[in-house]
Amino acid sequence: MSFKGLGVKTDNNPQAFRAKVSIRRNVLEAIGADRSVFDAFAGAGEMYSAVWKDAAFYTGCDQKPQRDGRLMFCADNRRVLRTIDLAPFSIFDLDGYGSPWVQAIIIADRRRVAPGELLGLVLTEGAGLSYKANIVPEAIAVLTGLRTGESSGCRKSRTR
Ligand SMILES: C[S@@+](CC[C@H](N)C(=O)[O-])C[C@H]1O[C@@H](n2cnc3c(N)ncnc32)[C@H](O)[C@@H]1O
Repeated sequence: MSFKGLGVKTDNNPQAFRAKVSIRRNVLEAIGADRSVFDAFAGAGEMYSAVWKDAAFYTGCDQKPQRDGRLMFCADNRRVLRTIDLAPFSIFDLDGYGSPWVQAIIIADRRRVAPGELLGLVLTEGAGLSYKANIVPEAIAVLTGLRTGESSGCRKSRTR
């Protein structure tokens, strides 16, 4: 989660930690621990240690090198998600600092879901303060059809 404008950025806000673990535990139980997890913002692996280590298969991704023995891509997750075969993965964890929607769009576009198949998508939306400041992440503007002028408050100033 990020606290833009407050100068505080944390990988796992202590106040949210239990809820984040609990959500992921629920998803793993619903989808099945015999399935494969793609952890797109894998970081230091707190969610891995708390939950994803219990999945049968795990692949992480982080742009910062992590040297703890997990199977990891060290790269921008947008490039990896656009490139690799996503079919083997049944759970995607998008636990970034900001908005997870670019990555979510790539997954929605590339991961076909068969009728009756279960797919888990866990999102951390860290753009809350941006929304309060009337700034909408670009991917949300595209998804909702908002024009950036409207989302950044320019429309208001034009009508004055
Ligand atoms: C909130 S932390 C992740 C915490 C992690 N899920 C855990 O359980 O400890 C966000 C991580 O995303 C990584 N990151 C940010 N943007 C990225 C990108 N485009 N591709 C890959 N990793 C990224 C950062 O390096 C950081 O380690």
